[in-house]
Amino acid sequence: MRDSITVELDGARDYPIFFGSDVLGDASLIAPYVGGQVFIVTNDVVANLYLDTLRESLPTGVRSDVFSMGEGERAKTIETYASILDALIEARHNRTTTVIALGGGVVGDVAGFVAATYQRGVGFIQIPTTLLAQVDSSVGGKTAVNHEGGKNLIGAFYQPRLVLADVATFRSLPEREYLAGVAEVIKYGVIADTEFFAWLEENVDALRERDETAVINAVRRSCEIKADFVRRDEREQGLRAHLNFGHTFGHAIEKLTDFDRWLHGEAVSIGMGMAMELSARLEQVPADATERVHSLLERAGLPTRADGLDTGAMIEAMGMDKKVVDGKTRFVVCEGIGSVRVIDEAPGDLVRASIASRVTL
Ligand code: NAD
Ligand code: GLY
Repeated sequence: MRDSITVELDGARDYPIFFGSDVLGDASLIAPYVGGQVFIVTNDVVANLYLDTLRESLPTGVRSDVFSMGEGERAKTIETYASILDALIEARHNRTTTVIALGGGVVGDVAGFVAATYQRGVGFIQIPTTLLAQVDSSVGGKTAVNHEGGKNLIGAFYQPRLVLADVATFRSLPEREYLAGVAEVIKYGVIADTEFFAWLEENVDALRERDETAVINAVRRSCEIKADFVRRDEREQGLRAHLNFGHTFGHAIEKLTDFDRWLHGEAVSIGMGMAMELSARLEQVPADATERVHSLLERAGLPTRADGLDTGAMIEAMGMDKKVVDGKTRFVVCEGIGSVRVIDEAPGDLVRASIASRVTL
């Protein structure tokens, strides 16, 4: 099965996302987007599984070099970024080279920042191999590395020329990683598409079983929704912030647990639960919508509570404690399944109660 959509920007920078099963080995998809050199950024886990297939699918005569970076969020550093630049320079890649990210969101974010800055910007292709990367991080051009002071503090907006989303790569993806991506898929239903949310309610079991037809449909619709936000607000001046539904709470949960206890998508799942509680308390959303979101997340095998976390510490981690001078914390709240809006402030007692309802037994 093969399908594609276009991320529409300004014409010249529009790019396609190809979806399907086993598309990674299809040379005809990559050939139009590369010149004489490519530089593949990956990690050992993904390289062992998919690097040979990718290399075999490159057009004959294309020179490929490979950089295998460290594993996980801890490798998303300025040091890794600098080492990749060293390798590009040492291997004499010129301005016509194309950087290819083969891996999850970590690899994609770092490789994208390399592509954005090497020789003031070279070609970039995303080949995301996690569900989260296919439905979120590979689309939309946010690239970054972390700093001791915080996540994604150094980066650039830089769009790829092509995204190749091969759902067959999920066959090797660990269960927790896969489900963390399902959380972001559910987010798209909540923020933008009532029908898609209802489809997810009907197909959540097939999605959990990684039925390829269901997975391709979920990836496709998620990418369409994300592409539409990016088309309308590429640099997050307003509307794109809707994509952060559940993330204000989720980021605080990740921070408080040293990015160790929950994966990003799991923290977002709990965060979406809290965001629905806040929406209900602000009377923005009918009670049955809150129940439907909680129920779908649970049926998807995702956590919806963070029992043991301290509500006060959460408030502080979200920058809402009174020590913060310019203390406004923005929240994305749900107005009903398929619609959200950003609010600049929320009453502290309601935020506190929303968190407390999801962190105590
Ligand atoms: P990840 O890149 O760490 O990958 C998760 C794990 O899966 C890793 O251990 C990886 O080696 C392994 N893996 C990858 N593909 C595999 C496969 N097919 N089979 C087996 N194992 C595989 O995590 P992620 O969830 O993909 O991405 C998280 C990152 O994405 C974070 O750094 C986050 O900040 C970033 N992100 C960026 C954006 C954006 O818009 N740029 C959006 C969301 C998240
Ligand atoms: N992941 C949020 C965004 O791309 O804007």
